[in-house]
Amino acid sequence: MGPIVPPSPCRAEIDLDAIEHNSRVLVRSASGARVMAVVKADAYGHGAVPVSLAALRGGADALGVTTIGEALELRSAGIDTEILAWLYGVGDDVTAALEAGVDLAVPSPGHLDTVLEAARRTGLRARVTPKLDTGLARSGITLDEWSALLERLVSASDRGLVEVTGLMAHFAHADDPGNPVIDQQVDRLHACVADARARGLDCPVNHHANSAATLTRPDDGFEMVRPGIALYGLNPVEGLDADLVPAMTFTAEVLMVKRLAAGQGVSYGHTWFAPRDTTVALVAAGYADGVWRLLSGRLDVSIGGRRYPNVGRVCMDQFVVDLGPDPGEAVRAGDTAVLFGTGSDGDPTAAEWARTLGTIHYEVVTAVRGRATRHHVLTGRRAPGGQRKGSR
Ligand SMILES: Cc1ncc(COP(=O)(O)O)c(C=O)c1O
Repeated sequence: MGPIVPPSPCRAEIDLDAIEHNSRVLVRSASGARVMAVVKADAYGHGAVPVSLAALRGGADALGVTTIGEALELRSAGIDTEILAWLYGVGDDVTAALEAGVDLAVPSPGHLDTVLEAARRTGLRARVTPKLDTGLARSGITLDEWSALLERLVSASDRGLVEVTGLMAHFAHADDPGNPVIDQQVDRLHACVADARARGLDCPVNHHANSAATLTRPDDGFEMVRPGIALYGLNPVEGLDADLVPAMTFTAEVLMVKRLAAGQGVSYGHTWFAPRDTTVALVAAGYADGVWRLLSGRLDVSIGGRRYPNVGRVCMDQFVVDLGPDPGEAVRAGDTAVLFGTGSDGDPTAAEWARTLGTIHYEVVTAVRGRATRHHVLTGRRAPGGQRKGSR
C-alpha cells in the first residue's frame, strides 16, 4: 500500500444534474432546431466526458469541440454521437478524425486541401462543415473566397471525397441582442446556404447560434444551434431570464481560525491592517488554483451561509478572510468556504468574480486549476424526478 495522501483542500464540484437541466432549457429554446453542446476546453473546465453525457441526457443531439484531440477523447470514452471539431492546422494530419468519424470544420481553402488529401489517401469520405466568416473576422472562409471554394466542394462531393453536413459561422455580438451586425451575419450565412443548395449540395444542418443567440433569437431559421456557456449555467446575456443553474461550485477548506490584534498587517505587503481586534480564517486556495490575485481585497467567501471578505493579498496557495471581532464558533477549522457557486443563499458566483475582475465568467470557470480537484455529483437540482443525490 502506498502512502496515504490527504485530500486536496480545494475542489470544484460539478453538478451534472444542473448540466442536464441546462441542456433541456437550451433544447426548449432552440424550438425544433438540433442542439450541439459545446464541450471544448474540457467542457469549459467542467470535464468533457461526464458533461457530454449529461448534455446528451438533457436532449442535446451533437457535441462541438475545438481540437481533433478533444473529439478523440470523447470517442475513446465510448461516445458515438456526432462530434464536430473546428480548430486544426492546415499542415495537420486529420486521418484520425476521419477514422473516428469526427466531422471537421473547413475554415479556409488550405484546410480543404488538408481534408481532401486525407480523404484521398484513406479512401474515407470526410464529413465537413465549411465555416464561413460572416463578420467575426476570426477564422472562416471569407465571402471573397466562398464561390471558388464552393466549386471545389461540389466537385469533391461529386467524387465522394466529402459529405457537406451544412455550413457554420460564429457571431461577433450575440451577447448584445439588439446589435445590427447579428442580422447582417445571419443574412450572410443564409445567402451562402442558398448558394450551396443552388449548386446541388443539400447542406441539411446549418448553424450560427452560440448560447446568447440560442436564448434570444430562436427564429434565425438554421437547423442547429451551438451553445456552450449556457450549458454550464452561466448567463450569456446579463439580466436575461433564462432558468439556468450554474454547474460549478468552487470551494476550499478553512485551515485555521485565529485572533489578530488591532493594527496587525495581513499577508504579503501588509495591504490591510486590522482596524480593531478581530478573528480571521485561512482559506486553502490561491492564485495557483484559480483564485485570481487581482481579487485581493475584493472577494467574499461564503462559510455556513454567511459572507466574509478577503483581507490582504491572495497568495499562491491561500488567503485570509476577516470573520469580524466576535464570530463565536460560527467558523472553525475544517469548514468549507464557497468561493463561487450557484448564487443561492447569497453565495458568490463566477459572474460576480468576472464583474470584479473586468472579465467574463468563461475565463473564471476555465481558470480553476492547480490543486483544485474536480468532483462530478448529482444534486437533484432541477432534475426530473426530484432529489437524487450522489457522486460519480
Ligand atoms: C465556434 C464556436 N461555436 C460555439 C461556441 C459557444 O459559444 P458560447 O459559449 O458563447 O455559447 C464557441 C465558443 O466560443 C465557439 O468558438
